[in-house]
Amino acid sequence: MKIYDQINEAAAFVKSRTALLPDVGVVLGSGLGEFAETLEKKTVIPYGEIPHFKEVKVKGHAGRLVIGKVRGKAVGVLQGRYHYYEGFDINEVVFPVRLLCGLGIEKLLLTNAAGGIAPNLEPGDLMIIRDHINMMGINPLRGENDDRLGPRFPDMSRVYDENLSDITADNMRSLDIAVKKGVYLALSGPSYETPAEIKMLSALGADVVGMSTVPEAIAARHMGSRVAAISCITNMAAGISKKELDHKEVTETANRVKDSFIELLSAVIPRY
Ligand code: HPA
Repeated sequence: MKIYDQINEAAAFVKSRTALLPDVGVVLGSGLGEFAETLEKKTVIPYGEIPHFKEVKVKGHAGRLVIGKVRGKAVGVLQGRYHYYEGFDINEVVFPVRLLCGLGIEKLLLTNAAGGIAPNLEPGDLMIIRDHINMMGINPLRGENDDRLGPRFPDMSRVYDENLSDITADNMRSLDIAVKKGVYLALSGPSYETPAEIKMLSALGADVVGMSTVPEAIAARHMGSRVAAISCITNMAAGISKKELDHKEVTETANRVKDSFIELLSAVIPRY
């Protein structure tokens, strides 16, 4: 079955569960799941019930689509994402975002955990992604293009919407969160990088490194949604600090920042 038809089937299923159609889509990264609980008038749909969704494997990711309102704004929240490193096909990774686009979202906010490379970053910082470098070795648009979804060769010169970024920066200032902006470089993972690799990535212009977000941003731009993204710097990348990398540090930092990150999401989403 064509992806276009899969999206329509999944969208029809969601519409049979709720009459609320999201205007803004949100993908919650590690540790941010709680945000979905704050929605008003929510409809919760486990991924397993949605046609063409895969079963989620990563611990700590609930794997649910939550549709509701944030201060009056209709949102569709993906609580848990599919990572390429889990072994999913890249079309499976981006399917939830394609569904949100199929439901009619016009803006998508992506969040993630990332390792800090740039010297102005430290663990606990939030960074607005202003551009990305795709070094995952894959592209979700590979294969026959369906013109009903988007163009064969979509422009990527402005993936991250300047207007949405300005709104985000504005709310960060109001909440006393330092405003940092930078380039997110995506690798497939799941092993963390070597210090030599981080030195290379730094030379290539990366401010942070992570294992998600970029395929979702590409798929959403392809379907015409505007995109914004925020990284939580959970650790300094390999060799930037002397510390060895440990997934525990990633989850601990994500947890420590969670409350202010969630406060930021609640403030920006209604203004998107
Ligand atoms: N590298 C890659 N992905 C990550 C990191 C990192 O240091 N931290 C959180 N996600």
